Amino acid sequence: MLADRKPIILSNWKMNKTVQESLAYLADLMRAIDNQGKQMEIILCVPFSVIKSMADKAKDPTVISISGQDVHWEEWGAYTGEISPPMLADLGAQYCMIGHSERRKYFEETDESVNKKALSLLKSAVRPIVCIGETLEERQLGLTINILEKQLRVCFNGFSSADLEKTVILYEPRWAIGTGNVAKNDQIASAHQYIREALVQLFSSQSANRTRIIYGGSVTIDNTSDILKIKDVDGVGVGGASLDLPNFLQIIDVMTAA
Ligand code: PGA
Repeated sequence: MLADRKPIILSNWKMNKTVQESLAYLADLMRAIDNQGKQMEIILCVPFSVIKSMADKAKDPTVISISGQDVHWEEWGAYTGEISPPMLADLGAQYCMIGHSERRKYFEETDESVNKKALSLLKSAVRPIVCIGETLEERQLGLTINILEKQLRVCFNGFSSADLEKTVILYEPRWAIGTGNVAKNDQIASAHQYIREALVQLFSSQSANRTRIIYGGSVTIDNTSDILKIKDVDGVGVGGASLDLPNFLQIIDVMTAA
């Protein structure tokens, strides 16, 4: 991790927690982290239904940021059931995750739609968290780098360097999400190194060095410390293991010690 890239610990709640449960989690989290939180940015990716109440209560937005989990690229219109970037901004979301593997798997998300969503989020000053990663089959066929190359090229099409630097890249091998099969350290290292190098090619070394790339996929208390030692890893994205606050706090402790 470089000094000018503030480490991130991201919690993806997926489709979990009511308003009451979310506010209790946030209150306990704020109480527990105290000053510890200043060393890192904690991003909570929460359901739309709780964004406003959480953003209102998250006292210091430089420590805890609230994020959506998906968005539509249009600003308004006849898209029943959708939420737009200006609406997310209005709720107080600072970030929005896009291209998560569950969106790609169950809701036909593509790199092209991720690109449209990212550009639209930036217009509303909501920072994108762009998820990329290969399937098990793609890895077994030796296509990981080809897939990452295409995802980066398409998802960041039309981005300026300033846009890139506002964006977080979440590398999550699709076979590692929710499976307990965390990627091996050398697999994480080579993917992150490739992503950083590709950003140098697509943008500049300055922008590549300022952009945070974090790892997700079966992150737990047991593997966080090793993952954080890997070069080019600027933090972790935690799904299942972050739903229970005491568990998530232990991962934050590991991160503080790292
Ligand atoms: P997991 O999920 O930690 O449960 O594997 C990660 C994610 O969905 O971002």
